[in-house]
Amino acid sequence: MPASFQQLGAERVTGTLVLSVFSAVLGSLQFGYNIGVINAPQKIIEQSYNATWMHRHGAPIPPATLTTLWSLSVAIFSIGGMLSSFSVGVVSEWLGRKKAMLINNLLAFIGGALMGMSKLGQSYEMMILGRFFIGAYSGLASGLVPMYVGEISPTSLRGALGTLHQLALVTGILVAQIFGLQGILGTEELWPVLVGLTVLPTVLQMVLLPFCPESPRYLYIIRGEEQHAKRCLKRLTGRQDVSDFLLEMKEEKRRMEMERKVSIAELFRSPAYRQPIIIAMVLQLSQQLSGVNAIFYYSTSIFEKAGVESPVYATIGAGAVNTAFTVVSLFLVERTGRRTLHMLGLAGMAACAVIMTVALALLERVPWMSYISMLAIFGFVAFFEVGPGPIPWFIVAELFSQGPRPAAMAVAGLSNWTSNFIIGMGFQYIAEACGPYVFLIFAALLLFFLIFTYFKVPETRGKTFDQISSGFRCRPASLLDMEEKPSTEMECLGEGSLS
Ligand code: GLC
Repeated sequence: MPASFQQLGAERVTGTLVLSVFSAVLGSLQFGYNIGVINAPQKIIEQSYNATWMHRHGAPIPPATLTTLWSLSVAIFSIGGMLSSFSVGVVSEWLGRKKAMLINNLLAFIGGALMGMSKLGQSYEMMILGRFFIGAYSGLASGLVPMYVGEISPTSLRGALGTLHQLALVTGILVAQIFGLQGILGTEELWPVLVGLTVLPTVLQMVLLPFCPESPRYLYIIRGEEQHAKRCLKRLTGRQDVSDFLLEMKEEKRRMEMERKVSIAELFRSPAYRQPIIIAMVLQLSQQLSGVNAIFYYSTSIFEKAGVESPVYATIGAGAVNTAFTVVSLFLVERTGRRTLHMLGLAGMAACAVIMTVALALLERVPWMSYISMLAIFGFVAFFEVGPGPIPWFIVAELFSQGPRPAAMAVAGLSNWTSNFIIGMGFQYIAEACGPYVFLIFAALLLFFLIFTYFKVPETRGKTFDQISSGFRCRPASLLDMEEKPSTEMECLGEGSLS
């Protein structure tokens, strides 16, 4: 039996692999930039909306209208993401992974241009539409990038390279937070440059992607283009003889041809897919309903309420901690495994949420509690990046073989973006109703996700795609059947695997 392509590929990290992963995650960088960019310059952009209103109506904008326009500017990003993430499956099969990423840049270009010129055009409609387009770009990128990176990576590095999507994303958030400072681009004159800057990585990606190979798994398993797949494999692995890699893909193709084409509805109907799709969706929910974006969208006001002296700098501190701990995860993920890191992250976040609640509740009586709540927020973000930040993004590509993968990425993407939207829209209202106790809700949810992960999520580290899906194939069909026993190992691993 040949060793699997991805295991053999681990022998070498080639320049082509580095270039391909780098070019792909430029998309993640943009996604992150647009999450972070809207936070700091809120007041300045609102002033500009007001000026437009004055120009059109000869009177200042009513406060309620301004709030609506601003909420729309923030939230329409997730609506764009929700809609487009659902088409990831169709687009990636039709155009291929690489061409889909390349063409997606058109959306970013339109979005960046609309936002960058909205002040000049005296139109908040342009800004809102631009946010929609850049959200649609990000929705597609959030599926295409992890799929492409997962498919071209050697098995032993799939987690680490998969984490680079999140690393680029959090770097984007941090860069946007820093550029948004008043001393840099967060001013009345320069904010259009701040929001328009997003086209720079677009241009870079459009220049670099044509030099990267298409995913050989896509070329061979989906398109049946053996020669083309071979050429790409040679470039990615740096080896002349790739026949053993091809054999492994042949086996996956053979298996796929025995299955019918997998539609989204079938993911839920077929017992072989129901279990991994539920796991994929719950992991995405665990990422968003952990409450992390309550911090990233509303950190400044949370820090203010916690009595922190310079909330803007504390926000940047949270961004820096966020980036640093993604790097930590990068080094741990192939050693400790996905499952353990995810559980560690969820447990740590739950503990920090409780500490934060206690600190906020005691703030009036004990002033130095503001430091404790700031540290608890930093801890919350740090634990997030250890597991729940990066892992859900790439584990979906791991849980499915070539056939159902695109449909699964679409479903997972939709559940991520929908829950992101719910937190973005709903957090302020819930925070008002619950006061300092709001984070207890997240603590309870985190606990639920921790228990779910313990019982349901398998470890995927070091296993080929085929081994992972075989693990689900020979498991009992119903989730309930698995209740008796924590699924730390996949019982049938090996069956159907080629190594
Ligand atoms: C994850 C989430 C995103 C969040 C970010 C924070 O990528 O998907 O919504 O803002 O992490 O680092």
